[in-house]
Amino acid sequence: MRDFLFFQLPMIQILSRPLLKGRGIFPLLRKIHTNLFPMAQSKFEYVKSFEEEGQLDPRHWIVIALNLKNYEDIYQVHKLERPNDLNFTRLIEASVEVVMQDFKEIVLCYNFFREFNFVFSKNTTLYKRRGPKLLTNVCSLMSSAFVYKWPHYFKTTDLSFPPLIDGAIHLLPDDQSLRDYMTNRQNVCHHQNLYNTTFWSLIVKEKLLPEEAIEALKGANEAAMNEILFSRCNMNYNKEQNVFKKGSVALRKKVQKAVTTPNGSISQRNQSTILVRHTDLMKDCFWSEMFELEQTTEVRCKYNYLKHLEKKEHLLPHTWMVVRIDGKGFHKFSEKHDFKKPNDIRSIELMNKAAVSVMKEFPDIIFSYGQSDEYSFVIHRYSMMCGRQGNKIISSIVSLFAGVYVYNWSRLFEDVALQYCPAFDARVVLYPNNSCLRDYLSWRQADCHINNMYNTCFWTLVQRSQCSRKKAEEMLCGTFSKDKRSILLNRFQQNYDDEDRVFRKGTVMFREFVDETNRVGLCASTDEQCEGSQMEEGPGVRCSSITVGHFDVIRDEFWRERPWILGEERSATIKDELD
Ligand code: GTP
Ligand code: MG
Repeated sequence: MRDFLFFQLPMIQILSRPLLKGRGIFPLLRKIHTNLFPMAQSKFEYVKSFEEEGQLDPRHWIVIALNLKNYEDIYQVHKLERPNDLNFTRLIEASVEVVMQDFKEIVLCYNFFREFNFVFSKNTTLYKRRGPKLLTNVCSLMSSAFVYKWPHYFKTTDLSFPPLIDGAIHLLPDDQSLRDYMTNRQNVCHHQNLYNTTFWSLIVKEKLLPEEAIEALKGANEAAMNEILFSRCNMNYNKEQNVFKKGSVALRKKVQKAVTTPNGSISQRNQSTILVRHTDLMKDCFWSEMFELEQTTEVRCKYNYLKHLEKKEHLLPHTWMVVRIDGKGFHKFSEKHDFKKPNDIRSIELMNKAAVSVMKEFPDIIFSYGQSDEYSFVIHRYSMMCGRQGNKIISSIVSLFAGVYVYNWSRLFEDVALQYCPAFDARVVLYPNNSCLRDYLSWRQADCHINNMYNTCFWTLVQRSQCSRKKAEEMLCGTFSKDKRSILLNRFQQNYDDEDRVFRKGTVMFREFVDETNRVGLCASTDEQCEGSQMEEGPGVRCSSITVGHFDVIRDEFWRERPWILGEERSATIKDELD
């Protein structure tokens, strides 16, 4: 069979298929190519069958509930006003708007304090209702918008570190459950805000120490807190601002806008706009006038059943967990920001910076591999990170990745302004044993190799021989790797093997494990303790450093020389180990 976009890797004797991340390939041609030529079977290709879609039931409201985990640190380090900083609240509202502008299928968002609840329309088919994809795209965009918008709201205070957001998916079966969910969240907002207002008033006005304020509020109910505020701090809670008492409701509304047509006439067009209100979600009028529901609903006070509507997935113990993130629409993003073709080292370094931050934050990630706009993070099979809850894991990783990406943008792209907030999706895939895990990593590295060889050849033809893109596509159509190598060598005196390893192999990161008693200097980019690791007890205490390189992970040698990365298989005989 003629090798079309496929390329032979003689040393591993496989025929592998790229994920068609072709940087030089036109999107339409990519589609035609994939349709005309059936996928080749490869030795590594089978690992794709471990991936699950996570499709959510139809005709349910989908609520993506996000939680800003380092809220306290952000308030403390940036010395924000307590109990609520209006600029911070406005920043959150602006970030929510960025997300809603991008995801037109989000019809409502309710946020307060450190949480944001995005509601997708009941019948959305976006990403064919794949839960993890919806969750991670929204979560990463919220994170990158937060960093992007920070300077607009805090002109004199630089953001010291990016946000850490995790998330959950709630699947609500009818209109009443949506109303109950939102009303319940607003109740939580009310109680938290009343508590915080009283707590901080005692500290600021009564000059109490934090532990004294906690003691004063122990067991206090709503009436008692109101009384403390009134009598000790001379404050009437009812007179506090609605934005803090009620939280912020962002609604998508259809409006008619006048637009000028090309022939100069004015016509009315339907457009959606986002309105922000600080209103009562308890009342009927909200659900009949501001956000009309199809079914009739009523005020209720029992919300316990809602906790069963969260889509919680506990990942099988003792299996490797791989989180793969991938840039959303990076074909367009790279064009808009003038990425160098076929590879832009600034983009690779930015991705690597984000990956190092993820590895530092989550010590149970023992290995990562990145290429193009994707990164795979391998979480140790015995890790109990985030209680092995899939949605918590993917959202935490993707939010940090996106936040660091935007945070460091100007350091790498210097004079290229970031034009809009990037988003990433993430999925978690389980691999039952070391050989499957290695095949997964080999699959991604083979993909990098195949794409890079194609793209190097394509862009060399276009940039160095005045060949049109269409002509270059035609020339490369159906070629084998040896043909591409010979085009490069014979026409351009370019040996493919001389290309930078970072482009040919992608980037590999792993922890160097050292005996605490025998700590030696390592080729490490960071040097931090394993603090915060949530691994099950393992033999011995270990410290870790992260090594970054462009190793060949398809070959056995890499793993043979570093046996600690995958480690020994343990038998699960003690019940406690699985709890
Ligand atoms: P989705 O992931 O489905 O949202 O689409 P996507 O547009 O992100 O495409 P995909 O993930 O399949 O491929 C990544 C794309 O990012 C490539 O096709 C390139 O267009 C672009 N890209 C990534 N790295 C570079 C780079 O270093 N230089 C240039 N010029 N483009 C890059
Ligand atoms: Mg992508």
